[in-house]
Amino acid sequence: MIVIETHHRASPELLAATNHLIPQLSSSFAGLTMERLEAVLVHESVTFFVARADSAIVGLLTLAMFPLATGLRAWIEDVVVDTSARGQGAGDALVNAAIATARDAGARTVDLTSRSDREAAHRLYERMGFVRRETNVYRFSLDN
Ligand SMILES: CC(C)(COP(=O)(O)OP(=O)(O)OC[C@H]1O[C@@H](n2cnc3c(N)ncnc32)[C@H](O)[C@@H]1OP(=O)(O)O)[C@@H](O)C(=O)NCCC(=O)NCCS
Repeated sequence: MIVIETHHRASPELLAATNHLIPQLSSSFAGLTMERLEAVLVHESVTFFVARADSAIVGLLTLAMFPLATGLRAWIEDVVVDTSARGQGAGDALVNAAIATARDAGARTVDLTSRSDREAAHRLYERMGFVRRETNVYRFSLDN
């Protein structure tokens, strides 16, 4: 059974899970210290979701919400499920929990980006009702 939790304080367990799981999403991830993880988790705009299966952490998702003149917006980032636990609904449960939190907070939209080769992710998001937008995503790298 998959259980979803939210966390607003860092712990050794969360740090170990983050440093194990995020490299399965990003090859450039250098690893976090406890202080950096704590800074993310205590931020008022951030809700950090954890999926557990048989008490072990198997997945993560970060939801960021921020107010704009056009309404409260929500972004889903850093969605990852351990290779050993994929296909059991953890991704679905994490995204569902994030949508429910955004809805309860009054967000107008939930956005995310996903690289074109992430086929399992696209299948998951489209199955859950995300609609692909025709837009360009730009990035200005600040290198910090
Ligand atoms: C995308 C990801 C989070 C989905 O997690 P998950 O827990 O496997 O999600 P679900 O079990 O809810 O299944 C989602 C889809 O994954 C695919 N899937 C199913 N079994 C799978 C398996 N054993 N291995 C890989 N993908 C599988 C299926 O297409 C499934 O959709 P379906 O149920 O409609 O067939 C996970 O594959 C992952 O971490 N991928 C690498 C990182 C990544 O791409 N993150 C998303 C960034 S935008």
